[in-house]
Amino acid sequence: MSDHGTSVLVINGPNLGRLGTREPDVYGALDAAGLADAIRGWAEELGLTAEVRQTDDEATLVGWLHEAVDTRRDVVLNPAAFTHYSYALRDAAAQVTTAGLRLVEVHLTNPATRERFRHTSVVAGVATGTVAGFGPDSYRLALAALQGGGPHGAAAG
Ligand code: DQA
Repeated sequence: MSDHGTSVLVINGPNLGRLGTREPDVYGALDAAGLADAIRGWAEELGLTAEVRQTDDEATLVGWLHEAVDTRRDVVLNPAAFTHYSYALRDAAAQVTTAGLRLVEVHLTNPATRERFRHTSVVAGVATGTVAGFGPDSYRLALAALQGGGPHGAAAG
């Protein structure tokens, strides 16, 4: 866990509020509320507290990352489509890791196996690490990584 506490901010980006009805063959049948419940349950099992949020809005995501820095909280972030092109989100994520906090990039799917535009993550280079391709379990694995300790702060390149 973070040396700054056991509270983790879990942030989901655009269209992830539509889970359950959105391309269930790709993203599964679990809806956003069910995912949030599962995440909070997994966190509790790991001795963490997860606050789960979702927005479709880039500026709100940037603000939440600033808040994570200001409140000294590690972050689990699914940037969704912003993964692939939002330099604003990358710059905000870099502030988390350069502040000595950890940020785990997560994806339900494995973007590397999908369309070409998904092969690029502009966030990965400033994240502490990435978990992708395990469905909802990606979040559990990300929380376990935070609980287990590990390197603080990625080099922002
Ligand atoms: C996603 C993968 C992204 O490419 C996509 O835009 C999403 C979800 C995932 O969790 O697999 O919205 O981040």
